[in-house]
Amino acid sequence: MDIESLKQSSVKEIQEAKTLDELEAVRIKYLGRKGLLTNFLKEIGKLTEDERRTQGRLANLAKNEFNSLFEQKKTELEQVKELSQASSQIDLTLPGRKPWLGHKHPITQVLQEIVEIFVGMGFEEKLGPEIETEWYNYTALNFPEDHPARDQIACFYLDNKYLLRSHTSPVQIRVMEKQKPPVRIIAPGRVFRPDAFDASHAPVFHQVEGLYVDENVSLAELKGTLETFCKKMFGENVNVRFTPSYFPFTEPSADIAISCVICDGAGCKTCKNTGWIEILGSGMVHPAVLENVGYDSEKYSGFAFGMGVERVAMVKYRIDDIRLFFENDIRFINQF
Ligand code: PHE
Repeated sequence: MDIESLKQSSVKEIQEAKTLDELEAVRIKYLGRKGLLTNFLKEIGKLTEDERRTQGRLANLAKNEFNSLFEQKKTELEQVKELSQASSQIDLTLPGRKPWLGHKHPITQVLQEIVEIFVGMGFEEKLGPEIETEWYNYTALNFPEDHPARDQIACFYLDNKYLLRSHTSPVQIRVMEKQKPPVRIIAPGRVFRPDAFDASHAPVFHQVEGLYVDENVSLAELKGTLETFCKKMFGENVNVRFTPSYFPFTEPSADIAISCVICDGAGCKTCKNTGWIEILGSGMVHPAVLENVGYDSEKYSGFAFGMGVERVAMVKYRIDDIRLFFENDIRFINQF
């Protein structure tokens, strides 16, 4: 075989090698101890001096080219091998890692549940500011100035003009000032009171306020609406009790209690052996409040109610300490 065709076939075979083993076989075939190129180089010695010079030069060129192509191909195949080994270590069938998802705080969940029940009965959701004036928090709600009734719903004063609202009732005034009857609203929100934390008190908590004003709104409607709410919230089997109460902005006023969900009315620690748990304040809107917002109290009447969201959540989920809602302990929060 002449040197030219040896060179061509060796180059072609290097290029066609697909694995390192195949490539090594090519090297042995051409440059092994009995390789084709090795033999050719050995034969050169037997030629005449002229032929030896030309053939020797060609043979060395062929050998050098073979070597450099061989090294190039070897590096290439080594990289391919490395890559395929690395990818075989990635298990594409393993399930992915789920990102850590949060969820709504139990108070938010209960608050939204309460609002939804009333929205289902035709109430419209309204919000008011947390920073209020005396007019909205007290005066317009018929709390006389310097009257001890203000202490029942005491607040934090920010300065002479502003305070943190201590109930959601100011939203009643804000909505009525802006629109004519009929008014049928539900107003959830955060309220503040100068109370220290204990098992049943917190300086900040949540309330949901309700207000319905129109012609001929009666106490029977107040009773029916709140009874419906209690059964939707706590189950069809609860009994609902109305007892007389006092708020400056409602007359008459009623406290609403449900039969204790823990002892079924038999008497236990949670209901303080009374069999009842109070969850709502309510009443017929006082005529003075209607007049304060420019409504004709001869023509219109209405009812209002307010409840503590933490209290409702505690009864519903049998939680005996309100502080659990504020500690953000994930072991507690994650149960909801
Ligand atoms: N605002 C009252 C409270 O915080 C509750 C209430 C609202 C009572 C509406 C009657 C009517 O105690």
